[in-house]
Amino acid sequence: MIFWFSGTGNSLWLAQRLHEATGETLIPMGEAMTRGDTVYALAEHERIGFVFPIYGWNMPRVVRQFISRLQLSNYKNNYTYFACTCGDDMGTTEAQVARLLASKGWKLGGAYALKMPNTYVCLPGFDVDSLSVAGEKLRQAPATAERICQMVLEKRRGKHMTLPGRMPWTKTHILGTFFHRFLTDSRRFHAEDTCIGCGKCAAACPLHNITMQDRPSWGADCTMCLSCYHHCPHHAVAYGTATRNKGQYLHHD
Ligand SMILES: Cc1cc2nc3c(=O)[nH]c(=O)nc-3n(C[C@H](O)[C@H](O)[C@H](O)COP(=O)(O)O)c2cc1C
Repeated sequence: MIFWFSGTGNSLWLAQRLHEATGETLIPMGEAMTRGDTVYALAEHERIGFVFPIYGWNMPRVVRQFISRLQLSNYKNNYTYFACTCGDDMGTTEAQVARLLASKGWKLGGAYALKMPNTYVCLPGFDVDSLSVAGEKLRQAPATAERICQMVLEKRRGKHMTLPGRMPWTKTHILGTFFHRFLTDSRRFHAEDTCIGCGKCAAACPLHNITMQDRPSWGADCTMCLSCYHHCPHHAVAYGTATRNKGQYLHHD
């Protein structure tokens, strides 16, 4: 089983590569959470994969909640791994996932990270990558994804291909904790005057957290994936004033 979450397509692309390599079923964590589907039966020897983007040097909130609620029957030390995508680095996410899995009696077998174009734009100084930087990451991605798939196929156990970056503990525990507590307020999302009410933001929200009347309005169940912002054809979705003059990005195969 490959449980995946993705705001703008990078992690979905990786999840699809893993699906092609292993033949295992893709299950969208966002949909599963909104439907309350958190009970699954494992086949013998089936791998359990979690694929998601890094937010604030940690798992997205929805991923943490999904894993916390997930119940797997027939678990017999099945190979359990995660594969994340990030713009730069993931801090100590590996330890965070390992601890969460351990609290459920599951053991983290493999940890993998893939550098992909950045999607975070909600603070001054943070923007999508330039075309050349994004292009270079996308050029390198297939070879790295192939190596990840190979290791997952072989059920390699241990520390593999992570991107902790510099000062990983400080990033996850200090900056990341601050980020998740104070910089993820969905009330700051709004539509600018250029919004034509097309509803593409609402359709793109993986948590169905946006309702449309003439304009979109955001509920409280937001995981900050920025799918709404990046999908808007008129660049009308804004987060406070921080997203003004910032770029947009969507992964295309
Ligand atoms: C809210 C938010 C926080 C992010 N935080 C990080 C981060 O801590 N480190 C990093 O390298 N990239 C970070 N990114 C970039 C994403 O992890 C990266 O672009 C990822 O590939 C997006 O995956 P997706 O297209 O599947 O949503 C962040 C993106 C968002 C939207």
